[in-house]
Amino acid sequence: FGRALRYAGTVGSTQDEVRAWADDPQDPAPHGAVVVAERQTAGRGRRGRTWDTTHGTLVFSVLLQGPLALPDLALMPLAAGVALHAACGVGGLKWPNDLLTPDGRKLAGILLEADLRGEEARRAVLGLGVNVSAAPEGAAHLSEFRPGLTRADLLARILAELERWLAASPEVVLDAWRCSSVTLGREVRVTTPRGDLTGTALDLDPQGGLLIRTPDGITVTAHAGDVHLVG
Ligand code: BTN
Repeated sequence: FGRALRYAGTVGSTQDEVRAWADDPQDPAPHGAVVVAERQTAGRGRRGRTWDTTHGTLVFSVLLQGPLALPDLALMPLAAGVALHAACGVGGLKWPNDLLTPDGRKLAGILLEADLRGEEARRAVLGLGVNVSAAPEGAAHLSEFRPGLTRADLLARILAELERWLAASPEVVLDAWRCSSVTLGREVRVTTPRGDLTGTALDLDPQGGLLIRTPDGITVTAHAGDVHLVG
């Protein structure tokens, strides 16, 4: 990844920049192409949120050319989380892929956007935002733990890890995610598109969903949503 790389100053969202490059008939972006930006004016987070790109954050998007089967796509956010954790070497993952400090502050986030076509995706765009030397209120930055790590070094490390983990088998990804997790075994509240769920986070299912045991002893699976660690 990153052998084709564009560095931009200010953009709306690097997600859109990569798509526009992929659609450029003169010079279409290849698989693994990367757009890095200094600032975004319309950075997107998961579930319709915005992503605040302050000075000192590393923001970039990677083009994943398809066709991509939906089960593979479902595990990609987890694989990307494992890669991010391996590259940063601190903290742990909150399902599905937020990197948190040991005291629970957010260091980085991942957004996977797929361009669906029937039962597959014709391509996907993976976007990462890492607080390197500055962070929004309440979040953490990596230089608290890894002083001297530059954005260029971190980008190279993350791209190498992404290439490795996105090619790994589902079992290997799931096991690595379990080892990097700060979610499993914890009391959680999950905000899903179908309402809130509370219980103990038990494990991942083979599709990367989060298995939760509710107080009445029933095990349910969350496939999408936000996890809040409550205990
Ligand atoms: C989240 O935690 O909600 C995901 C945040 C993802 C932010 C990155 S920054 C680079 C890329 N471009 C965007 O507009 N969003 C992602």
